[in-house]
Amino acid sequence: MSSAAYEHRGNGRHEQVTFLSSEQKMTSARKTSIAVGVVVSLLVVAAVVGFLVWLFVVRSKELEDESTTQKASSSTLVYSGHMKLLKPEYSPVYDNPESAEFQQVAKDLEGIMNDTFTRDPLLSKYYTKSVITAFSEGTLAYHWSQFDIPEMDQEIVPELTEQLVIEALQKNIRQEGKRFGSVAITSSDITASPTDPRMARDPRSKNCFYSLVAETTSKEFTSPEHPKKYPAHSRCQWQIRAPKGYSIIVKFKTFHIEDDCANDYVAIYDSLSPDSTRAITKQCGLRPPTNPLEVDSSGNIMLVNLVTDVVRKPGFKAVYFAIPTTTAVSCGAHLTAPTGNFTSPHYPSFYPPLVDCKWNINVPAGKRIKIEFTMFRVKEPGVDTNTCHKDYIEVLGKKYCGERRRLVLSSPANTLEVKFHSDESYTDKGFRVIYTAFDPVNPCPGQFACTSGLCISKQQHCDGWNDCEDMSDERSCNCDEEQFSCSNGLCRPQLFVCDRMNDCGDNSDEKDCRCGTGEERCGDGACIPQNFVCDGKNDCADGSDEVSCLGSPGLCNDFSFKCKDKQCVNKVNAECDRENDCSDGSDEQECNCGVRPYKHNRIVGGQNADVGEWPWQVSLHFKTNGHTCGASIISNKWLLCAAHCFIQPSADYKMTSSWLTYSGLRDQNIQDGSVQQRTLKTIITHPSYSEMTYDYDISLLELSQPLNFSNTVHPICLPASTHVFSAGSSCFVTGWGALREGGSAAAILQKAEVKVINDTVCNMVTEGQLTSRMMCSGYLTGGVDACQGDSGGPLVCQSDVGIWFQAGIVSWGEGCARRNKPGVYTRVTKLRDWIRQITSV
Ligand code: ARG
Repeated sequence: MSSAAYEHRGNGRHEQVTFLSSEQKMTSARKTSIAVGVVVSLLVVAAVVGFLVWLFVVRSKELEDESTTQKASSSTLVYSGHMKLLKPEYSPVYDNPESAEFQQVAKDLEGIMNDTFTRDPLLSKYYTKSVITAFSEGTLAYHWSQFDIPEMDQEIVPELTEQLVIEALQKNIRQEGKRFGSVAITSSDITASPTDPRMARDPRSKNCFYSLVAETTSKEFTSPEHPKKYPAHSRCQWQIRAPKGYSIIVKFKTFHIEDDCANDYVAIYDSLSPDSTRAITKQCGLRPPTNPLEVDSSGNIMLVNLVTDVVRKPGFKAVYFAIPTTTAVSCGAHLTAPTGNFTSPHYPSFYPPLVDCKWNINVPAGKRIKIEFTMFRVKEPGVDTNTCHKDYIEVLGKKYCGERRRLVLSSPANTLEVKFHSDESYTDKGFRVIYTAFDPVNPCPGQFACTSGLCISKQQHCDGWNDCEDMSDERSCNCDEEQFSCSNGLCRPQLFVCDRMNDCGDNSDEKDCRCGTGEERCGDGACIPQNFVCDGKNDCADGSDEVSCLGSPGLCNDFSFKCKDKQCVNKVNAECDRENDCSDGSDEQECNCGVRPYKHNRIVGGQNADVGEWPWQVSLHFKTNGHTCGASIISNKWLLCAAHCFIQPSADYKMTSSWLTYSGLRDQNIQDGSVQQRTLKTIITHPSYSEMTYDYDISLLELSQPLNFSNTVHPICLPASTHVFSAGSSCFVTGWGALREGGSAAAILQKAEVKVINDTVCNMVTEGQLTSRMMCSGYLTGGVDACQGDSGGPLVCQSDVGIWFQAGIVSWGEGCARRNKPGVYTRVTKLRDWIRQITSV
C-alpha cells in the first residue's frame, strides 16, 4: 500500500443442603440403637430444630439476598468514601478485617454512622446500613452507606445527594466524635460519592474479597477461575496495599471481560473504597496484547473491582508490584538538545493520579521550538475539553485535554515550558512528545510551513485538502482552471461542483446548482423531471433519485431492502443497524461479522495495522512466491477475492493446489499459533470477468477446511445489494501490497484511509473505463492508494453503529497513488446476489 487463582466458595443455599442431610444421617444412626419412642421424640425435636434453623438462618439469608438484589435493581443508593481518624493511630493490625482491633474500631465507627443517619430527618427514612471496609495509613477509614428508596418515594432521590450525606456526617461528628472511646474523627476530611451498589462489599463476608500486599517483586492475581470463565454475578474486590512511601503498579497480562461495560467491568480506585472521586479507570471488553491495561496509584493503596452479570468470559490475569512513590510520580526535565522527546509518566501505561510535571525546553538563541504530540490521550468522563478543569497539558498558557489525533504547537521564543497535571481521579494513557528546534526564517526547509508549525509537502499546499488541519495550507490560494474557487478561499476540483456534497465546507460549491423548474438534481449534478424521483426506476446515473424514498411503507422498488419473507423496507442501509426493520427480523440476522473482537486504542499511529485490527484480511500465497494477493473472510468456508489474481500469468494460477491461504496474519515473517493456514478446494471466478476491461473482477474461494473464528480471524459483513456507500465517506483499504509504485511489498499489514469518490468524477478520471461493477476510492490529489499486491483485498467502511461492511475489492488503478488516478475497486453491492447464489452467505 502506498503511503492468583481462587477457590470459589459455596453459597448459603449449598451449605443448607449439607447441613440438613447430616442431620438426617444422625437421626437414622440413632434409630438403630435407641428405643423407638425416644427416636420418635428425637425426630420431632430434630425436625423442629431443622425447621427453625432453616427459618432463621437460611431463609432469612435468602430473603436478605432476594431483597438486596431486588432493591439493587430498583432504588438502592450507595455512597462510598473515606474519613480521617485522629484516633486510633494506624497500625498494620488494621489491615486485617479479622483482627479484634479492626472489628472494634469498625464497630464504633459504624455506630457513629448509624447514629448520624438514623437521626437525620430525611436520610433516616431510607437508611439501611453502613459498613467500614478498610483502614490505611493516615489514619483513613473507608466506608459505604446504603439507602433504599421505596418505589413511591423515587422523586425524592434527587434530594438525596452526596452533599447531604457528607454534611450529615460532618455535623454529627463534631458532636458525636468523642462519645466513643476508641475513635476520634475529624470532620474536615470526609468524602462520600455515589457508587454502583454492586460494588459495595463487606470485607467480613469473604466471598471474593482479597487483601494483597504489593512488594518490589511482582506477584500475580487473577479473576476467579481464570482462564476458564469467571462466575456469573461476581462482585470481587482486591484491596492492594504497599509499604509506606511506595506506589502500586498493576499490569493486566490478559484482559477479557464482556463487551458492554454496563453489565461487566473492572473498576480501579486510588483508594480502598469504590469512591468515584478516586476512580482511576473503568474498563471492559477484550484488550489485545498491543494495548494492555496498566495502571498506577498515587500512594500505597489501590482497589480493584470486578463486577459481572450472567455472561461469562475468561476474565483477567494481572501482576502487581510496588515502586517508591518518588519514582512513580517523578517526571519533568530540563531539555537542551536541539531535538528530543518525552512522555507522561509510565507511558504507555496509564499515568498516576496526582502528579504535576514540568518540562523546560531550551534551544540556542534565535531558534524556536516545535512540539508534536504523536499520542495524546488525557480523557476523563464529563470534562469539557475547552476548560480542561481536571487533567491537562499546559503550553503557552493554554490547557489541552481529551483525545487528539494530532497536536502541533510552536513557541514564539527559544524556550518553552510544557506542564502536565493530573488530579485525584481518572487517568489515561497520557502523551508522547517529539520536539525540534527550528529556524523561524525557514521553519520547514523544502516543505510548506503550516501556521501550527507542522511541515507538509509543497504539493499539499493549495491542493484542496486540509493537510495542515488548521486550513492554513488552503487559504488564499490561486485556484487553477481545473479547480473551483470556494467562497472561503479553498480550491476544490471542478468536478466536485454541484455533486450534492458540501466539498468547500461553506456549501459554496453547491449553491448555484439549480435545475429548471419542475426538475430535481441527481447526485452527479444531472437534472431530471421531479416526478421521476422515487418512481421505482433508476433515472439518475448514480441511482440517487431512488435511494431515500421513504414514501409508501412496504412498497418494493429496486432500492428497498428485501427481508427474507420478501417484504420491503425503504430505509437506507437497514441491515445490521441494530434496529428491527423486517417483521421476520431478517435484517438483523447474520450480523456476527464486521466487528473486531479486540478493543483497540482508537488512535493507533502509523500505517502499520495493529494485531486483530482487520481480522477478515487474508493473504494468498502462490506456490513458493509468497504473498501474491489479498482476500477477505466472508464465512468460515468462503473467501472473497478478485478474479484477476487467478487468470494471469500462467495456467497454474487457476489451480487450487498452487495456493495457500493465511488468516489471522499480520507480519508475513511471523506465522505463530494464531495464524490459520488453509488450502483451497475451489476457485470460482465470475463468468463475465473480462481480462480486457477488468469488469466483474470478483472470485470466490472455497476453503478445504473451515476456519475457526478467533480474536484475529473474523468475517467481514457483506452489504445488501441496496447498501449505499456515499461519496465522500471514509473507508479503509488493507493489504501487504507495494509501499509505493514500483516498490517492494510490505511485511506488516498496511492500512490506508481512502474516500469514496463520486461515480461521475470516477468515470471522468478513468477516461470512461468505469462500469457499474466498479467504484473509485482514494484521493484525486494522489498520495494514498492501494498498489500492486493489494489486489483481491477488501475496501471496508464502518457503519453508524460501528459495524464494518465490505464495499469493494482491490481491482486496478493507473500506477499507484497518482494525482487524478484513484484506485478502482469491484463494487460488492452489484455482485451481492452472485455471491449469495454460490455460497449462500
Ligand atoms: N492490480 C493490482 C494487483 O494485482 C492492484 C492495483 C491496485 N492499484 C491501485 N492503484 N489502487 O495487486
